[in-house]
Amino acid sequence: MRKSIIIGNWKMHKTTSETIEFLKQVDDVCTNLELEAGVAVPYVNLAVAKQYAKNLIVVAQNCHYEDFGAFTGEISVDMLQDLKITHVIIGHSERREMFNETNETVNLKAKKLLAKGMVPVICCGETLYQYENNETQKVVENQIEKAFQGITLEDAKTVIIAYEPIWAIGTGKTATAEIAQKVCAIIRNKIANLYDNVVANTIRIQYGGSVKPDNIKELLSQPDIDGALVGGASLEPQTFLGLVK
Ligand code: PGA
Repeated sequence: MRKSIIIGNWKMHKTTSETIEFLKQVDDVCTNLELEAGVAVPYVNLAVAKQYAKNLIVVAQNCHYEDFGAFTGEISVDMLQDLKITHVIIGHSERREMFNETNETVNLKAKKLLAKGMVPVICCGETLYQYENNETQKVVENQIEKAFQGITLEDAKTVIIAYEPIWAIGTGKTATAEIAQKVCAIIRNKIANLYDNVVANTIRIQYGGSVKPDNIKELLSQPDIDGALVGGASLEPQTFLGLVK
């Protein structure tokens, strides 16, 4: 049985004081959840978030694939691990579109994280144009195949995949539970083809894109959806609690 996981993706929101305030209000209430829950905070707030989050998982929003070096502005996996960070989002569509993230760098980052015993949350998803041209399956399968290249069967089981149709991110347009389920099933099937049924049945697949307290239940009740990656609705304590409770 796969345990669902909900991650709030804060993107470039919340100062350190706001992060502390949020966690003071939210973390204590998040005991005995039926699922795992976490918040992906901006880099500068990771250390302080680790101090205040006892129940929530503190997630990083990106990392570099090299161990160290002349990469101004970048953060290594060792730096994250030293802060006891365990989960890192990679390949978010905003990073692919605005910061030159590619299938190749996603793969390098995933392999680096797995080599250090960490959990990559690998994002995939099609644009509106691709969706309207019935290219979703092709695009998503290609992203998954490239992301998992060279990853062993044992490591693959520990990865979290987030399916986020780009046309549903921050637009208020959620994919219907039916569409989200269909694509998550395609992804699971692709994992079965790349590995085997055990890996496919173990790996967790989140849906992301305008998830809110009033639609999360239906989305998470789908057989192939094991959680959510939530942007906008994860920023307010009450709405966040509405998602995880
Ligand atoms: P949204 O963002 O929930 O605001 O649509 C989701 C995401 O980008 O992870």
